[in-house]
Amino acid sequence: MLSNILVLDDEQNYLLLLETLLRDEGHAVTALRDPELGLAFLEESEVDVVITDMKMPKLSGQEVLAHIQKNYPHIPVLIMTAYGTIDAAVEAMRHGAFDYITKPFSNDELILSVRKAVQLAQAQRRYSLLSENFEQRYALHQIIGRSKAMRRVLEMVDRAAPSKSTALITGESGTGKELIAKAMHFSSPRKKGPFISVNCMALNPGVLESELFGHEKGSFTGAVARKRGRFELAQGGTLFLDEIGELSLELQVKLLRVLQERTFERVGGTESISVDIRIVTASNKDLQAAVQAGIFREDLFYRLNVVHIPLPALRERREDIPLLAAHFLKKFTADNASRVKGFTAEVIDYLTAYEWPGNVRQLENVVERCVVMAGNDMIRVEDLPPEIKDEEAQFKSAVDLLPPRLNLAETLEKIEAALIRRALAQSGFVQVKCADMLGISKSLLQYKLKKYKLTGN
Ligand SMILES: Nc1ncnc2c1ncn2[C@@H]1O[C@H](COP(=O)(O)OP(=O)(O)OP(=O)(O)O)[C@@H](O)[C@H]1O
Ligand SMILES: [Mg+2]
Repeated sequence: MLSNILVLDDEQNYLLLLETLLRDEGHAVTALRDPELGLAFLEESEVDVVITDMKMPKLSGQEVLAHIQKNYPHIPVLIMTAYGTIDAAVEAMRHGAFDYITKPFSNDELILSVRKAVQLAQAQRRYSLLSENFEQRYALHQIIGRSKAMRRVLEMVDRAAPSKSTALITGESGTGKELIAKAMHFSSPRKKGPFISVNCMALNPGVLESELFGHEKGSFTGAVARKRGRFELAQGGTLFLDEIGELSLELQVKLLRVLQERTFERVGGTESISVDIRIVTASNKDLQAAVQAGIFREDLFYRLNVVHIPLPALRERREDIPLLAAHFLKKFTADNASRVKGFTAEVIDYLTAYEWPGNVRQLENVVERCVVMAGNDMIRVEDLPPEIKDEEAQFKSAVDLLPPRLNLAETLEKIEAALIRRALAQSGFVQVKCADMLGISKSLLQYKLKKYKLTGN
């Protein structure tokens, strides 16, 4: 299994060596010279194993170890020492380091030790309560995302899945609400039962009522036979009510009653029917605002909001964009028997920088279109739709997302900090590269990092 390994060493040669060796072993490697950036990186990403040098300026290996032990006790730390500082290494072992190796080491020696650490990390992950078979579940439901934000979502799904509590999934259009609702059903004890989905916006209120509750024969013109509603059909499973914010006030009352009493009647019927279902709802509208505005019942809102799973917009988890793009590329090239193999690095940069107002669905559509349009085995910038390349439009759509009233100076500072944070991540936390990307000097960058407290010190 692929692991995410962080290497810290102030000697460039060792960084390069380790990076090559570990990549060849099939791991994802982030190699940093500055241990403080390493700590910031730990904060931002899911690291499985840390390999750190003992003697570094700014922070020592012991300090790095202490920080990890305190904040990420599940991450195995491997210490590298120069010959002659073995005492310190032994001391580090006593403080919880996983292993140590002395420089210079043989490749085999290093690889063996890393393998053991990776095994341990995987076992830790397996036993950790929340992330229990996370990877498998990702694969199973085709949910892509290694970002912290997405992991947090899956943790919530894990925690919520076993219970029968009503769950509300919120998020902008295209963020994956339905996907998450399904994942919740299929990770629950009801997974063998049905997953029934109803879009509350697609149907007019009258039709929706009989769709939900069913009707008796002759209850209205056209009701030629008794019909079971979705509440009945979902028996033993999950009922997913999408776009719940669109529900009429009248149906809100009826839904509230089902939630309180767990029984209902078919339209035109008198028999009370009780069902064993779990209700999951979704909304891309702010329901709390709808409550304020008096168009959504407050009592119903609280009933629905027992478990709340907010989905992050794609622009808030840009590190998932390349993964998602690759996932969709695979999907569409399989469909079309296409010869397209990948994206150029420049395309990935554009995709990662774009605002994605339509979130994952929009990205999916863009990739599909690119696969069709590509004149070559690589998707190039020419193949991208204009909105993604248009800087003016990008700025405008970015500005449109800001609150209507704001303080100019404060906002500019926030934007500056956000841009620096993004560049840091994009440059793999290499300051020189980051400064270059931003078109500023390294010393100015360092000043700004301090100003915005971006290095973790
Ligand atoms: N994390 C993800 N990994 C893989 N595919 C995803 C992910 N999130 C969303 N998708 C895909 O993006 C598309 C949109 O997702 P979905 O329909 O669940 O979004 P939604 O939030 O319900 O959107 P809407 O508000 O427009 O109904 C689907 O094709 C879904 O499979
Ligand atoms: Mg949806």
